[in-house]
Amino acid sequence: MKKTSKRFLSLILAVVVIFAATVPSFAAGDLLWEHVWNEEYNNGVILFPGSNNSEMNVSWYSATESEPRVIVDEGLIIDSDAKEYKGYSVAAPDGDWSNKVTITGLESGKTYSYQCISEGFVSNVYTFSTDANENEFSAVYMTDIHTSHDDANPDGIKNTAEIFNSTLSEAASRKKISLLLSAGDQASEGYETEYKGYSSALALKSFPVATTIGNHDRKGVAYKTFKNVPNERTNNMVASYIGGDYWFTKGDVLFLVMDSNNASGMDHRAFVKEAVKANPDAKWKVMMMHHDLYSGRIPHRESENELLRMLWGPIADEFAIDLVLLGHSHYYTVTNVLYNGKTVSDYEQTMTDPEGTVYMVSGSITRPRDDEDIGLNDEWIGYANTPDNRVIYNILDFTEDSITVSSYYKGEAEAFNSYSIVKTTKEGGHPVQILPSIFDGFVRFVGTVYGLFNNIGVYGDLKDAGFDVDFFEVVFNN
Ligand SMILES: [Fe+2]
Ligand SMILES: [Fe+2]
Repeated sequence: MKKTSKRFLSLILAVVVIFAATVPSFAAGDLLWEHVWNEEYNNGVILFPGSNNSEMNVSWYSATESEPRVIVDEGLIIDSDAKEYKGYSVAAPDGDWSNKVTITGLESGKTYSYQCISEGFVSNVYTFSTDANENEFSAVYMTDIHTSHDDANPDGIKNTAEIFNSTLSEAASRKKISLLLSAGDQASEGYETEYKGYSSALALKSFPVATTIGNHDRKGVAYKTFKNVPNERTNNMVASYIGGDYWFTKGDVLFLVMDSNNASGMDHRAFVKEAVKANPDAKWKVMMMHHDLYSGRIPHRESENELLRMLWGPIADEFAIDLVLLGHSHYYTVTNVLYNGKTVSDYEQTMTDPEGTVYMVSGSITRPRDDEDIGLNDEWIGYANTPDNRVIYNILDFTEDSITVSSYYKGEAEAFNSYSIVKTTKEGGHPVQILPSIFDGFVRFVGTVYGLFNNIGVYGDLKDAGFDVDFFEVVFNN
């Protein structure tokens, strides 16, 4: 097939796949996914956020080491005035190479076409569009996607990736989406094949995904070379081997993406302090991490949740975080407005200048739960949902003075829940300039020591699972 017709086909397919995802009876859906899978699985081209609106990070796999580059041009065609951005490649666990490039100099309200090139590989031409007004954009929030290797089913990854692809395409068919917030457990075993399945979602060639380290991602080592995230903290005392906390901005929103597998509270607080200091004009602070804190709907996890609340609650309080997006429990819940571990005002459809933080958990994409084990922690929970194994995704609309969250069951037209956080001033109603207590400092110190010993356990687990990892790298570095 000629290159031009291949590119054209790719564009048409993108449109048709998004359409097919919105019409459940569309019979060609399976056929199209088959084509997308064959076309996209091996190269794993995927966008991650850059540091701010003017940047976009790209990552993909190829068979050999090379100096990768991305060709970028305004509009739908790449021609002679295209710009070239060079990057680097790192050795990935399955014997191939992961290529990393950062595109810079992006302007508001424009459409760009791009093509990834590395030794022996030229990608399709994909497009993305920047927001006309940087402070007004929409993001999808999902969690626990779990693209899953299955020893008993060779199509396990392909089938779970299809659910992710069709769910994300349905969300993206509702309005222009500028970002996916993925709150961890992208994979189930942490295999590179699972991340390639995740990357096959066609929408992730058109807007970036901010991924979070889930406990399942930490079962393997592939996440370390899969991601291409900005402003990642590297000077930790203790960190997860596969990655750490990172931040980026979109307009006046500061996103703080935390590694909640790592209990090193001293590192997490230092990271948030630096990120907030580096972005003094950010009106909104949205934190995302994997572990559920408040819903506690799985009783045997409650003691873990209690410790995590002691670690993370004071950090959200001190730095006036507006919204915390979580995962792990696979249960949909939204808390009341919380401060200092207590409800300060009830959950409402509109919460104006809340005097604390709202925490939210969404359901899993491929492992939705029913309502068993429901009912704990009512003192914190403002809205709980019993999804009866239904797939849930959320659209977050950001404006200069509000964040509106709309939650949908896959396949249904109307949102089943919607709420807004409104701030009439930059600070809103959240207390500011709180001095951290000695007790909170002690908890963070204990967390850091615990994190160190926990990493020794992680090293043992990785060795037992057959990974060739270095003790000092796993225990001390990220
Ligand atoms: Fe999970
Ligand atoms: Fe999890």
